[in-house]
Amino acid sequence: MKGLYDIHCHILPGVDDGARNMEEALWMLNKEYKDGVRHVILTPHFRYEMFEPHMNIVTRGFMQLRREIVNIGQGDMQIYLGCELHSSMDMVECLKKGRRLTMAGSRYVLVEFSNNDEKSYIEERIRSLLMYGFIPIIAHAERYSATRNDVRFLSELREAGAYIQINADTISGHSGFGAKMYAKKLMKQGLLDFVGSDGHRQNERIPEIGRCVEKVEKTMGTEYAKKIFIKNPRKITGR
Ligand SMILES: [Fe+2]
Repeated sequence: MKGLYDIHCHILPGVDDGARNMEEALWMLNKEYKDGVRHVILTPHFRYEMFEPHMNIVTRGFMQLRREIVNIGQGDMQIYLGCELHSSMDMVECLKKGRRLTMAGSRYVLVEFSNNDEKSYIEERIRSLLMYGFIPIIAHAERYSATRNDVRFLSELREAGAYIQINADTISGHSGFGAKMYAKKLMKQGLLDFVGSDGHRQNERIPEIGRCVEKVEKTMGTEYAKKIFIKNPRKITGR
């Protein structure tokens, strides 16, 4: 399948625990390209006391990467800038003031939680984003005990207006059997909106959209795969 989207990855070099340099970033983009991906939203981490890259460095790196893509003959590969925003009490302000980015200039925000965050905290943070007109996408929902152990809670967040993303490796079964079954359950119950590679590097946590699409097609059919990997993400980028 061609024209796929990857809405969650750490390919932007030198700003978090993802690609270490331009060479590694280009290797990863090339891997995405071979997998049929033509739209990549780069989502460097922003998490207090862990990853706080200066916005000038982020945007400069993005523009440099965009130039490099053309140089390696992948002019039809579109890249966009976003952020994997770790939840905090000031995240709405952070977004409103442009200190951190939404997804590809849209109202969508890729929001990450800590694995053991309480349901009440998650719900309150999601509602605060919604209240200010942002559209939260919960990053790798399979990872948090609150959503992993309670599909109904996840469903309630979705009904409130949040979207759900899970990682490609989870669907492919490379993150364990339990996680794989959870992903399948979400797909069967119509609770999944997006898949991201969450690719980090060339030698570990490689972007693996290709094998995931095959798996989704086999389990859920081609139309469903198109919805998850093309139609839904197109709503974020608008193209
Ligand atoms: Fe990530």
